[in-house]
Amino acid sequence: MEFETVLTCRASIRHYNERMPDEKTIQKVLDAALLAPIVRWHKLHLTVVTNKEAMDLADAAACEFVKAETHRTFMHGAPVWIIVSGEKHRDPDPWTQEWKNNNLFWNVGAIIENMELQATALGLASCQMNYTIVSIADKPEVRKAVGIPDGYDALGSIVSGDSDAEMPAREVNRELIPVSFVR
Ligand SMILES: Cc1cc2nc3c(=O)[nH]c(=O)nc-3n(C[C@H](O)[C@H](O)[C@H](O)COP(=O)(O)O)c2cc1C
Repeated sequence: MEFETVLTCRASIRHYNERMPDEKTIQKVLDAALLAPIVRWHKLHLTVVTNKEAMDLADAAACEFVKAETHRTFMHGAPVWIIVSGEKHRDPDPWTQEWKNNNLFWNVGAIIENMELQATALGLASCQMNYTIVSIADKPEVRKAVGIPDGYDALGSIVSGDSDAEMPAREVNRELIPVSFVR
């Protein structure tokens, strides 16, 4: 797929079928994460969750978080959930801690975006997944069940898989973010 097509066709897809992508395809998405611009001094980890019970535990935590009345899934039925976790910086100087953690999140964003673009290029759908990440912050047993290393926090995630949803090329909306030029 042309790079331009990948960019315009990437979209947050919220309908998945149950077809599991093969290992080679998942590995390509993970390789894309490693090709992202990542500074080398953060401690990061990628977890690929395909275990339904583990995903259900995170969904249950998210239900509790949003005070849902009945159990529902936040993962849109996707078969694959990839979590980016890392060790947040704890520095005696608050200013240093803040810029280091901002830098960490910046890296996570790059990783997430590379994975989504690679997924699109491979014909897979994807969607970033926030609820099941924030809701496990105070749930060490769920963090363990979904494979986050000890001492690491879940920082970002995507779900991915096969979808019957259309992924048409989208127009660029130049109103979305104001741009200014300093010439
Ligand atoms: C940090 C972040 C967290 C997100 N979390 C969720 C989420 O929990 N559930 C969801 O369905 N979409 C989530 N999204 C997807 C956004 O809703 C989506 O990117 C936005 O509406 C723009 O649509 P697009 O990705 O199709 O361009 C998240 C996106 C970002 C950047």
